Amino acid sequence: SWQLSDFAEATIARVREQVGDRRVICGLSGGVDSSVVAALLYKAIGPQLTCILVDNGLLRKNEQDIVINEFSNHFKTDLHVVEAEDRFLASLAGIDEPQEKRRRIGHDFIECFKAEAEKIEDAHFLAQGTLYPDVIESGADPDGPAATIKLHHNVGGLPEELGFELIEPLRDLFKDEVRRLGLELGLPEILVWRHPFPGPGLAVRCLGEVTKEKLDVLREADSIVVAEIEAAGLYRETSQSFAVLLPVQSVGVMGDARTYDNAIAVRSVNTDDFMTADWSRLPYDLLAKISTRIINEVKGVNRVCYDISSKPPATIEWE
Ligand code: XMP
Repeated sequence: SWQLSDFAEATIARVREQVGDRRVICGLSGGVDSSVVAALLYKAIGPQLTCILVDNGLLRKNEQDIVINEFSNHFKTDLHVVEAEDRFLASLAGIDEPQEKRRRIGHDFIECFKAEAEKIEDAHFLAQGTLYPDVIESGADPDGPAATIKLHHNVGGLPEELGFELIEPLRDLFKDEVRRLGLELGLPEILVWRHPFPGPGLAVRCLGEVTKEKLDVLREADSIVVAEIEAAGLYRETSQSFAVLLPVQSVGVMGDARTYDNAIAVRSVNTDDFMTADWSRLPYDLLAKISTRIINEVKGVNRVCYDISSKPPATIEWE
């Protein structure tokens, strides 16, 4: 729309003026907000932008490739990928309590990001994808559930600790405006329309202790859920759709043999604000396809359930 192209141009001009000839660091997560911030800054200051992607080993299938392809191959940004899977998995070993998992992931993320940022000697600014609803939420109730959720996602404390000045070019925008701006800036639909993904990633969808083996099972199942919902043309009709790996095994039969394998829960919700949500009334045929594909294609899974709980009282995530 004309308003957004005006907004994009005005913001690009403002960022250019604010930044001058100094360097900006931007963390990339694969999510919409950080991608749009990076694209906007790239248009504004090009080679003065350095992006950092921390690969914590908890990303969705192909997520790293999508980000690298977009920001390294398409936009030629200076992209640093921190390969930190081993570190994150080591600190998660033996931990099954959800908030402790979050705490460790948040801590490791900050350490990894800091270590990489410190290598970028002339960095002056840190760009963040703070949206208007984040500004309101954090102002309204600093101890509320939203604040807890956002805690490590918004890299609290980082700019101050590292002496960066903050740039938040999306502060006046709502999510749908950010999406439209992303398309305006030339980002592909696959990034712009991606469902939100929690900062602690697949760790909170791999119930109980997190291991590489479990994550690999979950990643495969999750990619089938998303691919089939996309193929049915329903991805944008749902707000968040994903797989959860349950910490139980159950009996099944494959050919002549008895199996004792993992169960996957499929979660798909519709919501306007993520504070309340209803489960998506996905067509039975689609659920059947998802179930058959997961059980046939994902080794170690012999059962698939569909989560029909609304929020409240259930939450969207299982942990
Ligand atoms: P719940 O599970 O609380 O989720 O209904 C509401 C929304 O928040 C996301 N979520 C998180 N996002 N860090 C994040 O960045 C977290 O620890 C976290 N926990 C939940 C969830 O995916 C949903 O969109």
